[in-house]
Amino acid sequence: MKEYKRILVTSALPYANGPLHIGHLAGAYIPADIYVRYQRLKSIPVMFIGGSDEHGVPITIRAKKEGITPKDVIDRYHYQIKETFQKMGVSYDIYGRTSSDIHHQFAADFFRKLYDNGKFIQKSSEQYYDEEAKMFLADRYITGECPHCHHDKAYGDQCEKCGTALSPTELINPTSTVSGSKPVMKETTHWYLPLEQYQEWLQEWILEGHKEWRPNVYGQCKSWLDMGLQPRAVSRDLDWGIPVPVEGAEGKVLYVWFDAPIGYISNTKEFCDAHPERGTWEQWWKDEDTRLVHFIGKDNIVFHCIVFPSMLKADGSYILPDNVPSNEFLNLEDDKISTSRNWAVWVHEYLEDFPGKADVLRYVLTANAPETKDNNFTWKDFQARNNNELVAVYGNFVNRALVLTQKYFDSVVPAAGELTEYDKETLKEFAGVQQQLESLLENFKFRDAQKEAMNLARIGNKYLADTEPWKLAKTDMARVETILNIALQLVANLSIAFEPFLPFSSEKLRNMIGMEGCDWNQLGSIELLKAGHKLGKAELLFEKIEDEAIEAQVNKLLATKKANEEAEAKAQPATPILPNIEFPDFEKLDIRVGTVLECQKVPKADKLLQFKIDDGLGGRTILSGIAQYYNPEDLVGKQVCFIANLAPRKIRGIESQGMILSALNADGTLAVTTVEKPVNPGSEVR
Ligand code: 2FM
Ligand code: ZN
Repeated sequence: MKEYKRILVTSALPYANGPLHIGHLAGAYIPADIYVRYQRLKSIPVMFIGGSDEHGVPITIRAKKEGITPKDVIDRYHYQIKETFQKMGVSYDIYGRTSSDIHHQFAADFFRKLYDNGKFIQKSSEQYYDEEAKMFLADRYITGECPHCHHDKAYGDQCEKCGTALSPTELINPTSTVSGSKPVMKETTHWYLPLEQYQEWLQEWILEGHKEWRPNVYGQCKSWLDMGLQPRAVSRDLDWGIPVPVEGAEGKVLYVWFDAPIGYISNTKEFCDAHPERGTWEQWWKDEDTRLVHFIGKDNIVFHCIVFPSMLKADGSYILPDNVPSNEFLNLEDDKISTSRNWAVWVHEYLEDFPGKADVLRYVLTANAPETKDNNFTWKDFQARNNNELVAVYGNFVNRALVLTQKYFDSVVPAAGELTEYDKETLKEFAGVQQQLESLLENFKFRDAQKEAMNLARIGNKYLADTEPWKLAKTDMARVETILNIALQLVANLSIAFEPFLPFSSEKLRNMIGMEGCDWNQLGSIELLKAGHKLGKAELLFEKIEDEAIEAQVNKLLATKKANEEAEAKAQPATPILPNIEFPDFEKLDIRVGTVLECQKVPKADKLLQFKIDDGLGGRTILSGIAQYYNPEDLVGKQVCFIANLAPRKIRGIESQGMILSALNADGTLAVTTVEKPVNPGSEVR
């Protein structure tokens, strides 16, 4: 493998139109942070770039919905997201934003250079236009009936009911969500990056040159390339974004997926301008000795592996990503995480509900990282991993080693005497750990790497359980000294091994044992803590999470589920109307009004009520399946509509002489039909 002088790491710029959820963290941010922390520990020059993606239609839609400006939206979320990252320990060198002047200028210059060098093609096409609002409509601004499942509120880019990707022209009865009017087709001109011109080069570069990329990434690239690339528009008709820097392009902005990845570069520039000692941005982006790695979620693969590299190639002066480790999706309690359905664990809420437990979430998200396939987060698993792994294994081992040293040696590290075979075996397991972790981390196998670190804690735990120093304390203090010396060396090793994964806990642990610095190259050493070194006070590294805390989270999700179901039921369109009938057919039905004289439950039938109705003709009995929706006594005295000439039927041994009419609500409940003012029993309904 090529030796690089420095590593530039980016993680996808999240849209500043909503808070971060655990799917974001698991997809792109925790893995990137683990990787960066590890490289820093190895003293490799590394730069970690992040920032908010502040353009694009979803931001304008949110602003419209709330009656505020897009700027209000991005300000609110940019700062909130930035703070959440910081509290989760995601250690960016810079967390910038694409609304900054420096980015606007940089992205405009980038476009202009490609434009001047003839790298774009200009094309006219017909697009939907809202004549009332006087604007071209972004796909998301158009709704209509899905041609596949006939959902009546499909968007111009996707039907959220059946999941099909759509183009706005496929919608049946399209409507502009801006004015509610029917959009018309109108000609507009845009700039396109002719991706087909890069097809051959991409095939060579990715399919031949990067076979080491994760199978999910490589596979997605291959299928895009197999389908054949098409020109991609890099501008949009919109009033929110970076104006296209070309004369006559009024009302047009750069497409958000054109400007966002340039944000990686402009943010690097912003950082380097303020920290010249860290090199120039050109060094980081243009020197072949820089290794560029993009961490993203799977929905971003095409942009980072095909579109952005083609943009960089078109410019010609940039390096290309060496790897694009993309994760699959994280589900929540077996359901897809969804911002619009509020089906998510919002990270800022987690941090409020579980203060001081950022590392627990980091741990669980890495243990369950969707590295090779979609994975699932459940609160039960979260609790189990905390209680059975962090507390019972790692925390327990550390605590036992420290408390025993406190008890027998007043918290001073004892010297090791002669080692037994068992001691040597235990230490041998630690000796190879640096290499093992490195090989996993270098290959982006964070899940396995963290497992390996936890395995060290297991070895430590087992070592204490097997050697039982508390029993030897009465008979063989010299042996106890050796055992605790070894145990403490293992504890110190754990603080290094876990540093990339659990930075807060590692720091806490180092404070507890009075260990200065954290040198990755010392991992595996059995002389991290010298004999005679005084340890600090033993505290618990992790605490048990009780059932109540988990139940509260589960209940929160259940409440969301219920609210969603209710909203969905309300939003159900009415069932389609049956085919027309002729008037004589209608005349065959004899619908009457009757007064309920008696009403009672039918024994052993959950759904049935038995009515005695005054029909003006001597009375009749009717059974109706509405017992779940009414107290029988509440119906007595009500006037209801019923079909009087339905042939009598026996139900549960009782003859029902007609049918009471009820309305079927979208949520499946029934409501009896009644009359607006009292009428004579037996009155006809027509
Ligand atoms: O999918 C997203 O959330 C995008 N905002 C990611 C952009 S990544 C980069 F190109 F900036
Ligand atoms: Zn559909």
